[in-house]
Amino acid sequence: MAKAIINAKRKKGKISKYIYGQFAEHLGRCIYEGLYVDEDSGIENVNGMRCDVVNALKELDIPVLRWPGGCFADDYHWRDGIGEKSKRPYMVNTNWGKVVENNHFGTHEFFELCEQLGTEPYICGNVGSGSVKEMRDWVEYMTFGGDSPLANERRANGREEPWKLKYFGVGNENWGCGGNMRPEYYADLYRRYSVFIRNYGEEPLYKIACGANERDTRWTEVVMENAGHAMNGISLHNYQFERNWKDKGDSIKFDSDGYYTLLSDVVRMESIIKEHITVMDKYDPEKKIDLIVDEWGNWFNVMPGTNPGFLYQQNTIRDAISAMMMLHCFHEHCDRVHMANIAQMVNVLQAMVLTEGEKMVLTPTYYVFKMMKPHMDAVSLDVDLETGGREVNGRTVPDVSMSASEKDGKITISLCNTSLEKCEDLEIEIRDASVSAVTGEVMAAENMCDYNDFDCEEKLHPTELKAQVKDGVIKVTLPKMAAAVITVE
Ligand code: AHR
Repeated sequence: MAKAIINAKRKKGKISKYIYGQFAEHLGRCIYEGLYVDEDSGIENVNGMRCDVVNALKELDIPVLRWPGGCFADDYHWRDGIGEKSKRPYMVNTNWGKVVENNHFGTHEFFELCEQLGTEPYICGNVGSGSVKEMRDWVEYMTFGGDSPLANERRANGREEPWKLKYFGVGNENWGCGGNMRPEYYADLYRRYSVFIRNYGEEPLYKIACGANERDTRWTEVVMENAGHAMNGISLHNYQFERNWKDKGDSIKFDSDGYYTLLSDVVRMESIIKEHITVMDKYDPEKKIDLIVDEWGNWFNVMPGTNPGFLYQQNTIRDAISAMMMLHCFHEHCDRVHMANIAQMVNVLQAMVLTEGEKMVLTPTYYVFKMMKPHMDAVSLDVDLETGGREVNGRTVPDVSMSASEKDGKITISLCNTSLEKCEDLEIEIRDASVSAVTGEVMAAENMCDYNDFDCEEKLHPTELKAQVKDGVIKVTLPKMAAAVITVE
């Protein structure tokens, strides 16, 4: 039995909707096939964007989409992706499978996708192999509404009005695939590049510096100290593994150890976030600079028979539960974490949607994002949770993970039962708010390795969760391996 007290008067700050952001890279079948197809491919599309995928993703109210990478961003030259498609130069995608990239999906297509999804764009510029001029010109091309050769070139390519662009990243993983730099060198480059990406639009650009990998707080320290004055946010990348970087474990064949080890890696993330926040607090005690976790998610070995460079994996209840736990962690640190972007939106790593030709499946992670939508831009509430836990690799995986928020007079409680064996009876007391109606949804698995596959009945999706209410106390039973959301009115 777990117990929780939610104090509706103890508000902890706003959960930025951008925590529910997504990431789409030119990697494997994320862009091509997954989101974008030839207009005459036979797959229903609008200007190349797959209707089935776009319609499914629209249900998530995606607040922001990061593009074009990832590692691809520091190898990408935006001019290759504008103008008449048949005349665009092709290149080899050296980071991801060495396949030919024909540049048919470029700047105009990305903004078209964002418009169809109703999402804000977040563009990552090229520091590693690009020039200052290339980056400054791209920003002018996209956002200048006046009379200039670049703005007129955009018009000649079919877009009269400038696009609205707020989020702009100055390089990606410049400590690794983005140039193998030292933080001192990157901080100096950041200072230089950021001067030349000008504000042309109504709203100034929100500039995001490349942040650290995992526990590398020295990177955060050096970049904050030397370039903090010129940035709005600094990123952090961390992926979760079942085993280790070389052998990451399988996405659908794992045992109970693999299940709990993966969840313990989510718990580890909280300590990583705290370490970086401690450094940020030293240089920015007023919390003016945000932490942007613009890559996170589960990374497993690729599905057998698929291109190792395409990072294609399946998705089980383990992914769903870990996603909910991670989103709870971001809620917990909502005073510093302004944005997070799960990797990646379609067909790559911990995806929302998987496609095979004209077929599409929605993953359990998709349903977690869908169920948790009411948390976006809601006020986080204090939760006092009494629950057991399991010691794994020196970390405690809680039996129950929970987060609560309030928006428009409704309280949303998301919660998961991590146990593989037992269901969990829960009592949730709501203090300082009236409780008149309670509804719920739950997604649970029969077997931990179940997943939604093509040509099969969907195994994992939310169904109704029954809850009883008496004297402001909600009683529910969470099935084993389950992620749920309760709405209190
Ligand atoms: O998301 C896959 C890759 O992981 C990204 O391209 C890179 O930034 C990170 O290492």
